[in-house]
Amino acid sequence: MRDKIYKFAETYLMTLEIRKWKPEDAEQFVQLTSEWGYETTLEKTREQLKRIGELDNAKVFVAETDGKVVGRILVAEHITLGSEPFAEVLGLVVSQNFRQKGIGSALIERAKDWSREKGFKVMRLRANTKREVANRFYPKIGFALEKMQNVYEIRL
Ligand SMILES: CC(C)(COP(=O)(O)OP(=O)(O)OC[C@H]1O[C@@H](n2cnc3c(N)ncnc32)[C@H](O)[C@@H]1OP(=O)(O)O)[C@@H](O)C(=O)NCCC(=O)NCCS
Repeated sequence: MRDKIYKFAETYLMTLEIRKWKPEDAEQFVQLTSEWGYETTLEKTREQLKRIGELDNAKVFVAETDGKVVGRILVAEHITLGSEPFAEVLGLVVSQNFRQKGIGSALIERAKDWSREKGFKVMRLRANTKREVANRFYPKIGFALEKMQNVYEIRL
């Protein structure tokens, strides 16, 4: 990952740091969530970050270039009963003007490192079939399409 970051800095003349989230990042998270296609508020985001921060089996990492948060990823243990637990990527987004510069790949690499440190042997994620770029991105960086599922939901 270090090599990729040097390559990024040389190519785009910008620094890239992948680090753990800080409470001050919350405002930029709201913007990233909206670029991902979901609406949220600063209050909701702060509450969610606080809850995630209390968990030992979940982590948020951000990509910062020249002092600006331009991407984030949430990775967490997917609890199972019977089958082997795995690490799941739940929220990866890179800011529109910073895409196709290797930042998404760098965030995935950091999430993979965290998952290995936690002892997981597999990382998994779900991508909406309508998200064409995401469905090109994951196979390109080494993920294999394992299965296709329907997602069911009920309002409570
Ligand atoms: C998917 C996403 C995170 C990728 O982030 P990124 O920083 O642009 O990705 P990278 O620059 O690391 O791309 C890695 C590879 O993916 C492929 N790729 C990425 N974007 C692509 C695009 N728009 N078209 C074709 N291939 C693409 C490329 O092959 C690229 O490798 P290369 O540059 O060596 O050819 C980003 O597009 C995004 O935030 N999309 C909106 C949110 C989203 O869909 N998140 C995923 C939810 S499951």
